[in-house]
Amino acid sequence: MEKFIVRGPCTLKGEVNISGAKNAAVAILPATLLVRGKCHLENVPDISDIRAYYEILESLGSKITYISKNEVIIDNSEINSAIVSYELTSKFRASYYLLGSLLGRFDKVQISLPGGCNLGARPIDQHIKAFEKLGATIEVKSGNVYATRTERLKGAPIFLDVVSVGATINAILSATLAEGITVIENVAKEPHVVDVANFLNSMGAKIKGAGTDSIKVTGVTSLEQVSSYSIIPDQIETGTFMVAAAVTKGDVLVKNCIPKHMEPITAKLIEAGATVEEFESSIRVSMNKRPSSFSIKTMPYPGFPTDMQPQMSILLCLCDGTGMIVESIWESRFLYTDELAKMGADISAHGTTAIIKGVDKLYGAPVKSHDLRAGAAMIIAGLVAEGDTEVTNIAHILRGYEDICQKFSGLGANIEYVVDDEVNTCD
Ligand code: EPZ
Repeated sequence: MEKFIVRGPCTLKGEVNISGAKNAAVAILPATLLVRGKCHLENVPDISDIRAYYEILESLGSKITYISKNEVIIDNSEINSAIVSYELTSKFRASYYLLGSLLGRFDKVQISLPGGCNLGARPIDQHIKAFEKLGATIEVKSGNVYATRTERLKGAPIFLDVVSVGATINAILSATLAEGITVIENVAKEPHVVDVANFLNSMGAKIKGAGTDSIKVTGVTSLEQVSSYSIIPDQIETGTFMVAAAVTKGDVLVKNCIPKHMEPITAKLIEAGATVEEFESSIRVSMNKRPSSFSIKTMPYPGFPTDMQPQMSILLCLCDGTGMIVESIWESRFLYTDELAKMGADISAHGTTAIIKGVDKLYGAPVKSHDLRAGAAMIIAGLVAEGDTEVTNIAHILRGYEDICQKFSGLGANIEYVVDDEVNTCD
């Protein structure tokens, strides 16, 4: 069994480099399927979700040259199948992007219903609505999604009923090679949505408005290969290290990030009493006092990201006063609160609201990582807690954080990666 053992408390100090954005990369890899040629990608995070995506692409006929752990050339000249095995796609959520991209190339596509973190109901009705608007027929049966088209997809107006990252990206992917103009309204504006549109435009797609409420895609008949595209830095990994610096009353320079993307997190850290200095591509976070209390409501970008609320809760666990987190994206994102209670946190969650009363100290305990971001929060709690925190179920964490153990160790944390009782220090 894999686990992390975090021996606290510690004060994080030093510099950390942020990796490429998971949620951009998991869309850009399938987007490469739209071109019958090569795409050279840089700053690809080396995480298990990405390795799973390479496996899927190779199963379809992609030839991948692994230049370094963060750089690949994907050659999709000869894709020979649009049927993706249940075993490969059911493991993670972002496999749904294969529908949008393969529909640009094939008349019939089959994937299994996507898996991913358990955050409550995760419907894909808005993805289906977008594909159907463009002329595809979608059938969901026996755990699989079947998408078919009898002719080239045709551009159309699409109004999304909910602001969805995945449906926005899938609508863009399927409209890229469609005939005519698609206007997508009520779209997600997350940095990774913009990065996917920039990547497609670098291949010759005609996408305007990514990052605003309305995106216009003028369909093209083919795309060109990409000689070099560098994926943006990960907003949530950046935020995770910023919060960890503040929680441990440390002083950390978070490098290779985009400060503009961090504004909702920066604002809350300042409200909590941290000092945040922004530079061109780095952010320094330091803190030297007990956090003040604050409240958060998660919202689509540029609101406070749902993927940062578990990490931010650790500041509230130790704050002076009482804070509140309202989760408005996912119905079941507070499973981690029971784990924090084991560490001495005064935290209670009812439905989509958590109330957290600050305590003086957290204490190390065996805790479980319920999902990717909850797992990161458990590590942060372990860094500040007195004693040893054993974090299990860490496959979730390894899905989305590159070298997390090494990165925290580099900042002075005492953290070990243990697999089958064999200890690996993370230096
Ligand atoms: C993306 O998930 C991210 N995953 C999630 O990141 C993130 O939590 C989420 O966006 C919100 O920011 C990837 O990018 C791979 P949504 P996604 O569609 O696209 C509802 C992480 O830790 N909805 O924006 O699946 C849905 O139920 C993760 O990295 C529908 O009703 O999320 C939710 O309430 C986990 N119908 C809301 O929209 C649909 O067809 C937003 O979901 C689609 C979504």
